[in-house]
Amino acid sequence: MSREELSIQYHGLFLPKETHSVNSLKFAQEFSFENDVIAVTYPKSGTVWMQEILPLILNDGDLTQIQTIPNWDRTPWLEETRLAVVVDQLKSPRALVTHFPYHFMPASFHQSKAKAIYVMRNPKDVIVSSYYFHQMAGFLEDPGTFDEFLDKFLDGNLVFGKWTDHVKSWKHNNLGDRIMFITYEEMKEDLPAALRRISSFLGKNLSDETIHTIAEHCSFNAMKDNPMSNFSLVPKIYMDSDKSPFFRKGKYFTSSFTFV
Ligand code: A3P
Repeated sequence: MSREELSIQYHGLFLPKETHSVNSLKFAQEFSFENDVIAVTYPKSGTVWMQEILPLILNDGDLTQIQTIPNWDRTPWLEETRLAVVVDQLKSPRALVTHFPYHFMPASFHQSKAKAIYVMRNPKDVIVSSYYFHQMAGFLEDPGTFDEFLDKFLDGNLVFGKWTDHVKSWKHNNLGDRIMFITYEEMKEDLPAALRRISSFLGKNLSDETIHTIAEHCSFNAMKDNPMSNFSLVPKIYMDSDKSPFFRKGKYFTSSFTFV
């Protein structure tokens, strides 16, 4: 099916129908942010990684959440239908994720003390990751050949629009010290150092031992084996790991991809 058939349109962006609805987008716009933390990503830039990292940091390395709650319920997407279902079960400070560009964030986010962590990934790797994800995800259009997919990516004709628009929208923000920027590559290069930086941004002073535990449980291999994180609970009609696993390679093109 085409992107048009599989998506709903929202202020000019296409979003997958399977996980987004008019009601979920209304819920997101009316969502009341408090002292929450939200990880922001363009798709395939490290979203699920942050869904593992944030609950672990906020709970001082306690593994209960990552071992018992699927990632989409423990660190829900602001814009997706699951948020309304699980919102009352989230403990403060709540951890969320979003693929929204900056100007889509609800008014309460700007008025609150909520913090944002923007995770950027080298677009070369985003394109490849996204190409394989489009092959395995039944709720996304067939990517066609890699060349065809590359054109769609460059033109912004994919769900959540153009990579450059997304990055630019968040780079030019009015959030002051409520936002931190990190790259997928920094996390790959030295995960404990990245975890320390995120912890300190969130006001958590974690011991070396706790950082070590978190790093171990957020490694590519640990997450690939965690049924609460590897999407093995999702029926194959939506995500078919025989076509391409979600945890595909988890590698980077270059380690020196950083924000300047
Ligand atoms: P690849 O397809 O290159 O392997 P998102 O969560 O935003 O959809 O991004 C998915 C990408 O992040 C996939 O990239 C996935 O393997 C990678 N990823 C997820 N968890 C990771 C981890 N702990 N370490 C390294 N890469 C990870």
